[in-house]
Amino acid sequence: MNDVLPDQTPAWQYLEQTMRDLLAAYAYREIRFPVLEQTQLFKRSIGEVTDIVEKEMYTFEDRNGDSLSLRPEGTASCVRAAEQHGLLYNQTQKLWYMGPMYRHERPQKGRYRQFYQMGVEAFGMPGVDIEAEILMFCYDLWQRLDIIDVVRLQINNLGTADDRLSFSEALKNYLEVHREDLDEDSQRRLDKNVLRILDSKSPQTQEILRNAPQMPDYISTESAESFSAIQKILVSAGIDFEVNTRLVRGLDYYNGLVFEWVTDKLGAQSAVCSGGRYDGLSKQLGGTDTPGVGFALGMERLILLLEELDRLPAETAHTVDVYLAVIGSGVTEQAQLLARAIRQNLPELRVLTHCGGGKYNSQLKKAFASGARCALILEGDEAQAEIKTKILDDDGATDSIATSSVCDWLKANLKN
Ligand code: HAM
Repeated sequence: MNDVLPDQTPAWQYLEQTMRDLLAAYAYREIRFPVLEQTQLFKRSIGEVTDIVEKEMYTFEDRNGDSLSLRPEGTASCVRAAEQHGLLYNQTQKLWYMGPMYRHERPQKGRYRQFYQMGVEAFGMPGVDIEAEILMFCYDLWQRLDIIDVVRLQINNLGTADDRLSFSEALKNYLEVHREDLDEDSQRRLDKNVLRILDSKSPQTQEILRNAPQMPDYISTESAESFSAIQKILVSAGIDFEVNTRLVRGLDYYNGLVFEWVTDKLGAQSAVCSGGRYDGLSKQLGGTDTPGVGFALGMERLILLLEELDRLPAETAHTVDVYLAVIGSGVTEQAQLLARAIRQNLPELRVLTHCGGGKYNSQLKKAFASGARCALILEGDEAQAEIKTKILDDDGATDSIATSSVCDWLKANLKN
């Protein structure tokens, strides 16, 4: 779990703001739900036989003896909240959320035990229109973040629940014959969650899979048509993609379209954003039979990309406009009132008032180090009619102006 230190928060704020602006442009609405839920919710949605539920949840009993878990993802909670508050009854919803998720995984670059996701969930829309919209949203976001050249879209079709079942059976029958030659994880999955074997990293297992039944052969006509339709829209929208028939995702609730945006710039943790359709989830959790589709992106992974490729805009580093140096205890009160007057008159300026005393030189050094564009220097044993000014990005001379004209001077000298 990471601390995000003050030097790093501008990058986070930039990412968050860029996402908020785009979400607003798509007219999606924010939903917030707790970081804790009943453990049962995640078991019933993500699936009992998944890595997340089997080994990664932070689960504990609360004082009432209820089993609670820190949320490992947002989709289950979002469906629970939307259902509980009647948002899914005869209506459509386009929702988003942002916040920490928790998985007890082995930490490495791009993989943490507390990580932040921004997720989108759209309810009540069964067609390709909404699928196209959310994929376009992602594409637009990569463009705004200037990383479109380093992310690629992979898509797959898991078919209907029935398609999935008949393919799983066929795959299981085929792999059963090769059981002894599969890697250990895959042997375990053979009995419990056979589709996940397609994900196996073992070369030997992958070799065995080469002659296995193929998912596309088990997809019903209607589902296949919908998958063609989304591809057609992607082509028209100029969004490159590849069909990866091995893409199955690590959560059990998906059907139909699944997708991942991947990069090869982050080592092993290549997925920056993933999602898909989950039409059966709401009913499976005891609610309305409502189609759903969505995705979540990993914010740490995006920040890593932005930092490593140097794609953060320069202004994210600049956080101070005016540094008010205060020399001598006689001007303390005047300095505080002056700073407040500047903030009231010029609310767009960021004013850092020096607190804690110190000599002229040491305060000026701090002014330079703060990255401020100008310094105001108030010095004396009592309230001053004059104040010194200094533009910090050239080595211009120090001037003196009337204290009462400070706001005019700032307006004239810090125009943009
Ligand atoms: P997920 O693939 O488990 O899907 O996670 C989504 C994204 O979260 C990943 O693509 C990755 O960028 C990021 N992520 C996952 N685990 C970690 C980790 N340990 N450290 C850092 N980043 C991580 C879901 O969570 C689904 N709820 C997505 C979804 C929404 N499907 C439909 N709607």
